[in-house]
Amino acid sequence: MSIERTYAMIKPDAVIAKNDGKIIDIIEHSGFEIIAMKKIRFSPELAESFYAVHKAKPFFGELVEFLSSGPVIAMILEKESAIQAWRDLMGATDPEKAEEGTIRKLFGTNVGINAVHGSDATETAQEECSLIFPEL
Ligand code: RTP
Ligand code: MG
Repeated sequence: MSIERTYAMIKPDAVIAKNDGKIIDIIEHSGFEIIAMKKIRFSPELAESFYAVHKAKPFFGELVEFLSSGPVIAMILEKESAIQAWRDLMGATDPEKAEEGTIRKLFGTNVGINAVHGSDATETAQEECSLIFPEL
């Protein structure tokens, strides 16, 4: 176990619904340090490159449209084992399958519109942090 950084993002659905403050409150009370945070809007091109790994999936078009449909809150979070800890706090991709108390259970709508994003591995965490926060 070691201190790690991960890329976290509050997606447009949760920002538009004004759930972003509540989600940030949960993050801070779950032992994460917010190293960097900004409200930005993804262009469709940035959304495509951010989720490039899903390019061949049937939901790719919807995903790109959704992610670029409004502002997001982009964050770098730090904690012991932050990558897994943040994914645990987010809950399963499908809010219906997410555990009670997780952010997707609380604020997600469906498998596509699910309030938050989190990096899934050390390498993707580094890539996503430097894509969105190149200055750091
Ligand atoms: P994320 O990358 O956003 O943190 O989500 P995840 O790891 O839990 O799930 P992933 O498989 O990486 O999927 C990325 C995002 O694509 C949308 N999605 N839609 N309609 C569908 O079946 C479907 N499946 C995935 C979701 O927004 C998901 O978070
Ligand atoms: Mg993912």
